[in-house]
Amino acid sequence: MTQFTENTDAWSGAGRRLYLQEVGTRDGFQMESVFIPTEEKIAIIDRLSDAGLAKIEATAFVSPTAIPALRDAEIVLREIRREPGIVYTCLVPNQRGAERAIEARADELNLVMSTSETHNIANLRMTREQSFAALAGVIDMSLAANVPINVSLSCAFGCPMEGEVDPVVVLDWADRLLQRGATGITLCDTTGMAYPTQVRALTTEFRRLFPQAGCTLHFHNTRGMGLANVLAAIAAGADRFDASLGGLGGCPYAPGASGNVCTEEIVHALQLMGYDTACDLAVLLECAARLPALVGHDVPSQLLKAGERLHLHAPPADFEQWRNRALARDQPSAPA
Ligand code: COA
Ligand code: ZN
Repeated sequence: MTQFTENTDAWSGAGRRLYLQEVGTRDGFQMESVFIPTEEKIAIIDRLSDAGLAKIEATAFVSPTAIPALRDAEIVLREIRREPGIVYTCLVPNQRGAERAIEARADELNLVMSTSETHNIANLRMTREQSFAALAGVIDMSLAANVPINVSLSCAFGCPMEGEVDPVVVLDWADRLLQRGATGITLCDTTGMAYPTQVRALTTEFRRLFPQAGCTLHFHNTRGMGLANVLAAIAAGADRFDASLGGLGGCPYAPGASGNVCTEEIVHALQLMGYDTACDLAVLLECAARLPALVGHDVPSQLLKAGERLHLHAPPADFEQWRNRALARDQPSAPA
């Protein structure tokens, strides 16, 4: 993996490699009230496997009562096509989830706990210490099965119920989980409270303290700061981002949560800036275009509506008439 120096100039991509991780089929689909048919989930993941993504979070092994939309996790993970080089991961909150995910041959487990006590209890029905104890057991079990562990730390940039979350607390949980055997941490902005200055500071500090750890940034675009936050994290040396096709997403147990940064929009912007995302934008747009019919409503992606930057439009129908009139103004007027 490329190691950027701290405080890299984010404005010029200069061919630097960034790693995009799709979370739409988990973070996105978990929020939908309609049940997306299992074969449709599999079909979209299979097409996303052609898009050059580094990782796909295919589903979540959570309680089917808590998240009915993902009650087909086993079938999805078992039946998708596994493209070599892509990590097919899944969200796991507890031991039961880990057993199911390992059984279904997950390439990685993405464990989840919140840095906010209130959100952890609301989302996972446990205190943070109870979550940590449960996750420690899961880490032992997964490493024994040779399945690597990432931990997503929710509300790392603020909690919709508690307000500010102290960065010292966030870094302390990251430290404990890494010491316990996690290989990577995702700093999650669960409800779009992060802002660029804060992102740059926390990402810089995380990378200074844990230079060997995988570091992923997970932003929601709830307050329109998603792309700005991605650029701020790049400036602090991050190179790995979660994003969601169509801009779907949100946590049902975090009030006010809405969509993730949108995969096709982030890829479009980063490619224009000269970054190497390895992603095929046409494939991403093709997948995103399928979403409204699947979820039964419009999706947040603005790129899907506007088309790429050089998606051109025909001039107005009476353009020739207006041009001729404009040019006629430059003709010398006929002698009287
Ligand atoms: N997979 C399947 N079933 C599970 C499960 C899992 N990972 N974890 C718990 N269950 C089942 C138990 O078997 C039990 O079933 P039963 O009532 O038929 O006996 C039931 O759920 C309750 O189990 P319990 O251990 O008491 O869990 P809980 O009710 O305290 O729920 C969570 C805790 C975390 C498992 C549950 O709230 C959950 O899965 N939440 C999802 C959170 C989420 O995905 N949020 C969005 C993403 S951040
Ligand atoms: Zn999220």
